[in-house]
Amino acid sequence: MKQELAKLIAKHVPLSKEEVESLLEVPPSDELGDLAFPCFSLSKLMKKPPAEIAEELASKLGDKLPSEFVDVKAINGYVNFFFNIPVLASKIIAKIFNESDRYGSMNFVSGKEVVIEYSSPNVGKPMHVGHIRSTLLGDSLKRLFMFQGARVHSINYLGDIGLHIGKLLVAYELWGNEAPIRKLLEKEPEKGLLELYVKFCEMENVDIEDELMKTPGSEEKEVRDEWTEKARQALRKLENGDKHYTAIWKKICELSTKAFERIYARLGVSFDEITGQSQYAEKGKAVVREALEKGVAKKGETGEIIALLEPDLPNKVLLRKDGTALYITQDLGAAISRYEKYKFDSMLYIVGSEQELYFKQLFLLLEKLGYEWAKRCKHVKFGLLSIEGGKLSTRAGRIILLEDVLDRARKLAMEEIKLKNPELAKDKQRSEEIAEKVGVGALKYSVLAVEPIKFIKFSYKQALNFEGNSGPYLQYSYVRASSILRKANIKTDKPMEISAKDVPQELSSEEAKLVKKLAHFSLATERAFNELNPSIIANYGFELCQLFNEFYHACQVIGSQHQRFRLALVAAFRQVLANVLWLLGIERVEEM
Ligand code: ARG
Repeated sequence: MKQELAKLIAKHVPLSKEEVESLLEVPPSDELGDLAFPCFSLSKLMKKPPAEIAEELASKLGDKLPSEFVDVKAINGYVNFFFNIPVLASKIIAKIFNESDRYGSMNFVSGKEVVIEYSSPNVGKPMHVGHIRSTLLGDSLKRLFMFQGARVHSINYLGDIGLHIGKLLVAYELWGNEAPIRKLLEKEPEKGLLELYVKFCEMENVDIEDELMKTPGSEEKEVRDEWTEKARQALRKLENGDKHYTAIWKKICELSTKAFERIYARLGVSFDEITGQSQYAEKGKAVVREALEKGVAKKGETGEIIALLEPDLPNKVLLRKDGTALYITQDLGAAISRYEKYKFDSMLYIVGSEQELYFKQLFLLLEKLGYEWAKRCKHVKFGLLSIEGGKLSTRAGRIILLEDVLDRARKLAMEEIKLKNPELAKDKQRSEEIAEKVGVGALKYSVLAVEPIKFIKFSYKQALNFEGNSGPYLQYSYVRASSILRKANIKTDKPMEISAKDVPQELSSEEAKLVKKLAHFSLATERAFNELNPSIIANYGFELCQLFNEFYHACQVIGSQHQRFRLALVAAFRQVLANVLWLLGIERVEEM
């Protein structure tokens, strides 16, 4: 619709239809119509005041409008277009049924190869809040790219090497066979490993919370204590292929992977490739040699290898003086391997803002090495997430484990279900399943509804407020739509037939607003895609549901004179909301 209009406008102005399309916007109020074309940027090109251009355009377009529009007016330098609501309604509803789960996609990246790396927690440590945000954001961006036609390769890049591994090797060796820890490692591997980690930190006299939140690479500056030294030694031995430590390392990786898998299963998040950083050390070292040969790096005074990035960015150490690999060594190897494997058109790294400089250095170095695809790499950064009341019964009292957050969210969802739908709550198994979906959805929504770059303060109360801007509110609106259709015996797996004559001549304002919002879905998916920002989808979904609920309260559906049209409208809403929820990775429920 926007495209059609853009094509028409482009015939009359010195701009391409793509340029026109990107200028078209939704005006802030209904009196200003439903789509508006600003003439300000044309003013220079056409050497005329914007108001005059708008007037001329409006009069030229007046009798050529596509049938979804009834009127066009020039207002303050804009050309404003007004929908013919009944025509729009029948077209949009038919389009929604027709395209169903593809409705809202414009296939922007059809057939493109896109690599998205996200989650990437560190082996042996529980995921911290940064990993949670990366996981949810990455999963949603993956969906958004798939929706727009890309072939996405999702990668989980595990931090399976580094000083934290050295610490765990020592801890496991010393305490891993003590009965309580062994049991815990079996039953709840994440908590068992954490227990080991906490013990090590106590010996080392290091704050466990700081330790878990650390960005990789920062350990280089760490003070040496006898325990740190033990960890370094163990790590060195591991890197040199020591059998004993390799066996423990494998065990730790296995336990940790088991713990992560449990969380991914609950979150419904999956990856096409799970690889450890350590795998790329050798490849990375070869790249460092290449950098030396190409004069992009030099040997430092104490023997380390340094990438020369000044004056654009600070120089960066690529290899320790003892020749062992660093965080960036592996990233160099990994990036090149990924390009060789996928020949990607773009690669996204979903990693917290604190690694902004690091990724700039990585990309600049790749560019200096002559990899032209370095420009296709992007760091999608995000701000901090804090979760209220993180107290847990582990010894590391302040550490928030994602599993516990999910358990608490599920429990709160269950309480709400008991209040709202006591009938459902009687069926324990069914209601527990739904509570899990609602709890997980609540967390996902809270994280995704905020612009990535902004700080999030997660509150259970807000996340699980069924009437607020929340995941459960969206899920509940879906339930409501499903239940109307069920009552009317509409089969939701088959699109309804609807023709123009089913649409009343005059729509109520609630119906009209809902129709327009449905028509505007692709504006939201487009912006979210361009800005790599799922919060635009989340907020669209919230507004859509608000309009649906207003419609539901104002207009009787079953038994009304316009039953057929209204049922179709409900079914169309349900489909669009399903697409919204899918893009956010939130599960739908049919009752709650
Ligand atoms: N494991 C790292 C961390 O916990 C994140 C890895 C980010 N990805 C990368 N290719 N460097 O901070």
